[in-house]
Amino acid sequence: MSLEAEANAIEAKEWPAIIVRPSRDEDVDAMLGIYLHHVRKGLDVLQAPLYQAPQKEDLKRRRKNMSSHRLPHLVAELDGSIIGYAYAVPFRKRPAYRYVVKHSIYVDPNHLHRGVGRLLLPALIDACAAAGYRQLIGYIDAANEASLKLHKACGFIQAGYLSSVGFKYGRWTDSVIMQRSLGPGATTMPDARSSPEPFHQAIGFGWNKGSF
Ligand SMILES: CC(C)(COP(=O)(O)OP(=O)(O)OC[C@H]1O[C@@H](n2cnc3c(N)ncnc32)[C@H](O)[C@@H]1OP(=O)(O)O)[C@@H](O)C(=O)NCCC(=O)NCCS
Repeated sequence: MSLEAEANAIEAKEWPAIIVRPSRDEDVDAMLGIYLHHVRKGLDVLQAPLYQAPQKEDLKRRRKNMSSHRLPHLVAELDGSIIGYAYAVPFRKRPAYRYVVKHSIYVDPNHLHRGVGRLLLPALIDACAAAGYRQLIGYIDAANEASLKLHKACGFIQAGYLSSVGFKYGRWTDSVIMQRSLGPGATTMPDARSSPEPFHQAIGFGWNKGSF
C-alpha cells in the first residue's frame, strides 16, 4: 500500500470526526496560519521586526517535494478545516543518516489540549516507519510542557539536553532532544528494498533553510 493510501486510512479513534491524512496544496494557507500564530507568539519585541514569514509558494513547493519523496507530511482535518499538521524532514543530509528523520508538529490554537496532537503524532510515527525510517527525533523547548508530555506519551525518551541554545524574551532557553525508534529500530539491518532515498536525491541540497 502506498504511503498516501496508508495515511488516508488513518482515522481518529478517540475523536472519529477528525481525519489524519497527507497534506495537499490547498492546505498550505491553513498550515501557514497555524504556524504563524505559534511562531509570532514566541517572538519578543526585538525579534519581531526581523522575522521574515515564509512565503506560500515556497511552502507549496517544499511540501510537494517532501511528499513525492516519502517524507510524511500530514494534516488533521475536522469538518473540512485543517486543525493541525505534522511532518518529518531529514535529520542530516549525509547518506549515513538516511534512516533518521526529525519532525515538527503544530496544532491550531483554537483546538489545543483536545487530543489533536495525540492523533497526529502517532500517525506521523506510523507513516515514518512505513517509509522505512528507523529513528525519529524532536527538538523541544525545555519549557514546552505540552509537547514534552505529548512526546513521552508517544514513546519518545529524552536523548539529550542542550543548555542555553535559544534566546527568547530576554533570557537563554534550553532544548530537550527526544528520540523514538521506528519499526524494528536498530534490531535489524536496513532492508535495501524498503530504504528511504538518500537525502541528497530526495530533497536537494540547501532545501533545509527553514521550517514551517
Ligand atoms: C505541543 C502541541 C502539538 C500539543 O498538541 P495538543 O493537541 O494540544 O496536545 P494533546 O491535547 O494531544 O495532549 C497531549 C499531551 O499533552 C498534554 N498537554 C496538552 N496541552 C497542555 C498544556 N497546555 N499544558 C500541559 N500539558 C498539556 C495533555 O494533557 C496530553 O498529555 P496526556 O496524554 O499525558 O494527558 C500543541 O500544544 C502545539 O501545537 N503547540 C505549539 C507548537 C509546538 O510547541 N509544537 C511542538 C514543537 S516540538
